[in-house]
Amino acid sequence: MKELLQDNTKITTTQCMKEDRLKVGCEAFLINLPKFEDPRGNLSFVEQLKHIPFKIERTYWIYDVPGGETRGGHAFKEQKEFIIALSGSFDVVVDDGSTKQLFSLNRSYYGLYIPQGIWRQMENFSTNSLALVLSSTHYNANDYIYDYNNFIAHKSNEE
Ligand code: TYD
Repeated sequence: MKELLQDNTKITTTQCMKEDRLKVGCEAFLINLPKFEDPRGNLSFVEQLKHIPFKIERTYWIYDVPGGETRGGHAFKEQKEFIIALSGSFDVVVDDGSTKQLFSLNRSYYGLYIPQGIWRQMENFSTNSLALVLSSTHYNANDYIYDYNNFIAHKSNEE
């Protein structure tokens, strides 16, 4: 589903899966992880360069998010990431400069892969949600683009 926002950007709520990414042409996409269902409790896991297309240099998590708060709201020049809702739910809005896409994460057996050069914001966190982020880089403050106009300029330099 595609809608046109007031600022002329399109937002789509059709969630792109890894399998469809070439057909649909999306840069950020959902990746299903292995899931071992067990009466004792389910188990999932992720291996670098196998389930996700990068080597994991850092892991961080976001928790105790008060109602109505947003996190993110920036892009990375180099960092690729994979975001999993380990508990609860939240939305991630990704923006490649022309199209915005909303992904709702609410299960711990899949996650959202976001390559470098994508503006992303996390919002609509449920109570007690826990967001796990696997990152392809060490923390580097210089990798962040915090200004949306700078992001658009960065995108046009990439082309
Ligand atoms: P930041 O990524 O800016 O979070 P958000 O985009 O949700 O606001 O991180 C918030 C602060 O945490 C930032 O000032 C730096 C620090 N930080 C680290 O020191 N190491 C990390 O790996 C991360 C992700 C953040």
